[in-house]
Amino acid sequence: MCGTCGAHGSEAGTPTDDGTRIVVVGKGGVGKSTLTALLARTMARTGARVLAIDADEQRNLGATLGVGLSMLSGVVPLASQADYIEEKTGARPGEGAGGMLRLNPDTSDLVSRLSIPAPDGVRLVVMGGVQRAGGGCLCPEHALLAASISGMCLRRGEVVVMDTHAGVEHFGRALARGFDTALVVVEPTFNATQVGMETARLAYELGIGDIHLVVNRSRGPDDVERVLEIVDRLGGFDFSCTWVLPFDESVPATEPSIGGLLDGSPLADAVGDLSRQLAALAALRRHQANTLAVTA
Ligand SMILES: Nc1ncnc2c1ncn2[C@@H]1O[C@H](COP(=O)(O)OP(=O)(O)O)[C@@H](O)[C@H]1O
Ligand SMILES: [Mg+2]
Repeated sequence: MCGTCGAHGSEAGTPTDDGTRIVVVGKGGVGKSTLTALLARTMARTGARVLAIDADEQRNLGATLGVGLSMLSGVVPLASQADYIEEKTGARPGEGAGGMLRLNPDTSDLVSRLSIPAPDGVRLVVMGGVQRAGGGCLCPEHALLAASISGMCLRRGEVVVMDTHAGVEHFGRALARGFDTALVVVEPTFNATQVGMETARLAYELGIGDIHLVVNRSRGPDDVERVLEIVDRLGGFDFSCTWVLPFDESVPATEPSIGGLLDGSPLADAVGDLSRQLAALAALRRHQANTLAVTA
C-alpha cells in the first residue's frame, strides 16, 4: 500500500505507479550533483513535474540547480525538522528507537510543506543525512527519510531525481521500493570506477531494475575504453546502458549553478540525450507493466 496515495504501490521491487524515480550515485566529486541538476532542469523544461531531492549531507544540489544562496541559507533539512518528524513518526530526533515509532508514516504532504522552488519549476527537498544510520536504523529521522523516498506515488509525467552521498546503503530497502533507475556516475579513473561498481552492485542487491553507467568528464573514446576495461577487470557488471558525458570547458565559468549551461553546451546536450532516453525507457516500462496487468 502506498504511503502517499493510499491506493497503490508495492511492498518491494519496482513501484507500480506511472512516475519515474532516478537515484544518482557514485564517488564524491565525479559529477553527481551536476548531472542531477542538469537532468532535473532539462526534464522540467520538457514538461515534466520534477522533484529534486538532495540526500547528500553536503547539500550542494540547491546551489547547483540555481537556487539563490539567501533562500538556501534558510532551509532546514528534513532530517532536522524535529516537529515534522515527531508529528509523522511519533518521536523526536535524538530520542532513539522508542516503542511507539511509526515506521511507515504518511508523508504525502512532504512536498507541499517542505519543498522550495528552484528554476524551471523544479521543486527541491533537502533531506540532509542521518549519521551512520545503517540499513536497520530505527531512529525517527531515518524512519521519516526512508518513508519519504519509498512512499511517493507519482503520476505520468512526474519525476523524482535524487542526488546522494557516495553510497546508498543507509537507505536500505526503502530505496528499492521507491526507485526504478540508478545512474552510476564515474570519471575515467580506477578509484571512481571501483566505487561506481560497488554502488552498482548494491543498487542491484536492493532490487533497482535499471542500472546505467555514466562516464562523466570524458575527453574521448580512450577514456570510455579505460573505464570499461576497469569494469571488466573488477568482475564486470550488466549495466542497462553506458552513457558518455564530455569534459566541458564551460563548466567552471558557470558554477555553482548549471543554469548557464542549459542553453547550449556539450554537457547539457549530452544530458538532454540521456533525459530523452530515460523518458523512453520509462514509457517502455509502463507499457510492459500494463501488458502484464492485462494478461494477469
Ligand atoms: N562534465 C564535466 N565537465 C567539466 N566539469 C565538470 C563536469 N561534471 C562536473 N564537473 C565539475 O566537477 C566538480 C564536481 O562535480 P559535482 O557535481 O559537485 O560532483 P559530486 O556531486 O559527485 O561530488 C564541480 O566543480 C563540477 O562543476
Ligand atoms: Mg554532490
